[in-house]
Amino acid sequence: MELLSHDVLIIGGGLAGLRAALEAKKSGVDVAILSKVHPLRSHSVAAQGGVNAALHNVPAPIPDSWGNHAFDTIKGSDYLADQDAVEVMCREGIDRVVEMEHWGTLFSRTEDGRIAQRPFGGAGFPRTCYAADRTGHNLLHTLYEQIIGQNIPVYEEWYALSLVVHEERCLGILAYSMFKGQIIPIHAKVTILATGGYGRIYLRSTNAIINTGKGCSLAYRAGVPLQDMEFVQFHPTSLFGTNILITEGARGEGGYLKNAQGKRFMEDYAPHLMELGPRDIVARAIQTEIDEGRGFEGEYVLLDLTHLGREKIMNRLPGIRQIAMDFAGIDPISDPIPIQPAQHYSMGGISTNMDGETPMLGLFAAGECACVSVHGANRLGGNSLLETLVFGKRAGEKAASSRSSNIQNQKEVTKIFQQNLHQFQKDLEEIFMREIQEPSFKLREEMKTLMTYQVGIFRNASSLQFAKERIRDLKERFHRLGIKQKTLSFNHELVQYFELEGMLDISQVIIEGALARRESRGSHFRTDYPQRDDEHWLRHTLAYHTPQGPKLEYKPVAITSYPPKKREY
Ligand code: FUM
Repeated sequence: MELLSHDVLIIGGGLAGLRAALEAKKSGVDVAILSKVHPLRSHSVAAQGGVNAALHNVPAPIPDSWGNHAFDTIKGSDYLADQDAVEVMCREGIDRVVEMEHWGTLFSRTEDGRIAQRPFGGAGFPRTCYAADRTGHNLLHTLYEQIIGQNIPVYEEWYALSLVVHEERCLGILAYSMFKGQIIPIHAKVTILATGGYGRIYLRSTNAIINTGKGCSLAYRAGVPLQDMEFVQFHPTSLFGTNILITEGARGEGGYLKNAQGKRFMEDYAPHLMELGPRDIVARAIQTEIDEGRGFEGEYVLLDLTHLGREKIMNRLPGIRQIAMDFAGIDPISDPIPIQPAQHYSMGGISTNMDGETPMLGLFAAGECACVSVHGANRLGGNSLLETLVFGKRAGEKAASSRSSNIQNQKEVTKIFQQNLHQFQKDLEEIFMREIQEPSFKLREEMKTLMTYQVGIFRNASSLQFAKERIRDLKERFHRLGIKQKTLSFNHELVQYFELEGMLDISQVIIEGALARRESRGSHFRTDYPQRDDEHWLRHTLAYHTPQGPKLEYKPVAITSYPPKKREY
């Protein structure tokens, strides 16, 4: 058996993974990244509108500060974010963004040459630093250059199959090299999951096809709790038809939302901030307009940029214009864009502390797959890229200084990996032996439809109860699925099979958490419990895997200086 070994192994080549790798490498330890796609194809590349930092580069009546940023974030989170973690993010975020500039990120500029900042939803200041509408692209390329410069190896197109756990400590993973057609164990002192979100459990999502939540399901199956998974973010503006993201930056630059009567309907939902209300409120407003018959074709409303003028659109939103022209045949310079809400982000994830440590020794998480928790029940736009930089760095630093496993004996390590590999191969043989009764894509489509229509922007006890029963049924059918391709070389069907298994787990956790939480908070809106209920529900959900389904526990929210208040915009 070939056994690879590293001090720190990072699963995922997006911003959080790359930032963690760089920081760990600084401490002189042996670091490697494993990614199912080339790092520059990670979903971070698709982030458009920007990254928040209280730089105060754009004049405002009073100076911006990290404290203002923290307040906006906590209010935006509907008071579920851990306030100590938010403070760290907003304080350290300033240096992280400037550091990216120094490494070469091509930010857009103010007239006097500083990093340009635009208004974003739920923010009291123009705080979102941007590179036109391709901010993620610019940041990811900058970090990847650093990775190359530091000679950090990347296992490209390798897939993490399972975590290897011994005596409640993570010792590494079993990985699948698609090119070699082999399952290869990798031993690591610390494994960091930085695998991004799970958007593809929904039919309508701004997420890439690769966003299947694998890191969350790996951790969950290994016994690590998933936190606050009922909080699913729906971005207000995705392109009708394909659900490609149309950045919040378009509203930040002054775009209007209009219904079929030509009305800027946000005046009825967030009269002060209007189109720049926080995402949960704007997404619900759009969906309400559509559901109550004031949309177009019962499916969408319009995002109107025509009054911004050609120059502003070409300078600040060139990517959006291209997307609208290529995928909807519409030029936003002259015509409004048809948009509808779509799943965009996961506030929940693998439970971690501020250094990325999960409750399992040797296992860390960072980025969207983690829940620190800085987003609580609703993330503000621009805080996701920031989270990857701040908590990616912290995770890498802490991982590099973590103690080695107690198992010093190489023979013992090898034996543990051999046993894991042997068991995995036996399970694989059993899967390959099954007769094909139905294709896995059919189950996947049923799951996505279920999640979209029963566990979407609006939920209630009966839709969630229905979803709970249907997911159980899908999980039973999953165990009878067969695989046509019986060899390991580039077996994408097998990868899809394992991804579906994880997606069903995640769906079940979201449903159970949503059913249990009898209140509305942030993105979790129960039509049967439309009010926030701090007395009973100002607490985080923790979901543990059991053979019978998720077991839910709860833990308190960290409150520092911002006592919960009614949220008004
Ligand atoms: O709308 C956007 O550009 C998305 C930003 C974000 O999710 O942070």
